[in-house]
Amino acid sequence: MSNPLRLSPEQVDPAIESAAAHAEDISNAFRDLGIVLPAGTVVRRDEPLARRTTLRVGGPADLYVEPGSDNALASALEIANLRGLPVFLLGRGSNLLVRDGGIRGLVVSLAHPHFSRVETDGGRITAGAGARLKTIAHEARRAGIGGLEFFEGIPGSLGGALRMNAGAMGSWTFDAVEELRCMSRLGEVRHLPAREVPVEYRSCPMLATHIALGAVLRGRPEDADTIRDRMEQYSGKRWSSQPSQPSAGCTFKNPLPTLPAGRLIDELGLKGTRVGDAMVSDVHGNFFVNLGRATAADMLALIDLVRTRALGERGVALEIEVEIVGEDA
Ligand code: EPU
Repeated sequence: MSNPLRLSPEQVDPAIESAAAHAEDISNAFRDLGIVLPAGTVVRRDEPLARRTTLRVGGPADLYVEPGSDNALASALEIANLRGLPVFLLGRGSNLLVRDGGIRGLVVSLAHPHFSRVETDGGRITAGAGARLKTIAHEARRAGIGGLEFFEGIPGSLGGALRMNAGAMGSWTFDAVEELRCMSRLGEVRHLPAREVPVEYRSCPMLATHIALGAVLRGRPEDADTIRDRMEQYSGKRWSSQPSQPSAGCTFKNPLPTLPAGRLIDELGLKGTRVGDAMVSDVHGNFFVNLGRATAADMLALIDLVRTRALGERGVALEIEVEIVGEDA
């Protein structure tokens, strides 16, 4: 007689089977990370990510690790490769929208102090990918290195700014980069002069496949007070033109330098438009803010609504600037 509790192969739902296989890969990788990485390394399962992003929405990471050295990072990548798990590099989460179902696989953060060093030497600054841009801007001012003030107002880490070629106040990150230090997904470290790294408006394509570890930045010798004045001027402009509520910065790329997305959205009368607690800021049309309880689904619906209106009424296809990752709930 057949066992009534055992399902025949045709009765097994493939989705359930693949979810079970994934859960096993995660358990194995979690165990491997615990064995291979030095004691004290942060390794977690089901790590909530909303609080690690400035937008404050989204689900958990299957696995989350904060390696404390280049070798530990390479080992974590190797384990993910062996287990067939995707790897996502999390910066300070200031340009990120994590979907409500969270991120499958391994999320790596370079928040460990090993990756956050900032050292000045003559007119150069050597900084790790985990260093805050604000810290770099202030170190540069103290050392009399001008030209990096625009970093002060970008709420991210150097790694994210390199990946996005982030910019503000008319300057881009790669304007200041002399050398990039990065790691391939196979754990090889490379030092590249900036001229060998192609960049675009709001993108450094090679950092989609490589992990930025840090950079040598350069500026020009300048008086610390002059630098401070410029920083204060930038900060004043930012406070008066950008919202202070949780957001991921600008949602869309500017379609043209002469057509900023914020102005376009403003002209369409969409400021203040809401889906749940997701709202088009009433201060700047390209910032979508979380009024408190927004979900990623609310944010995505709002993005969709604005894109549809821009296309329908102005014939402009707005391109997303915020990085959208993970799975729906
Ligand atoms: N404008 C409006 N209404 C609005 C918003 C803007 O009319 O609701 C007008 C402004 O008056 C100005 C023009 O649009 O004439 C451009 O606005 P703004 O100076 O604020 O600059 P932006 O192009 O909207 C860019 C970057 C920002 C960066 C600022 C400041 C992009 C997509 N955005 O914004 O970067 O902080 O310049 O330099 O390139 C980000 O990337 O996340 C980001 C916030």
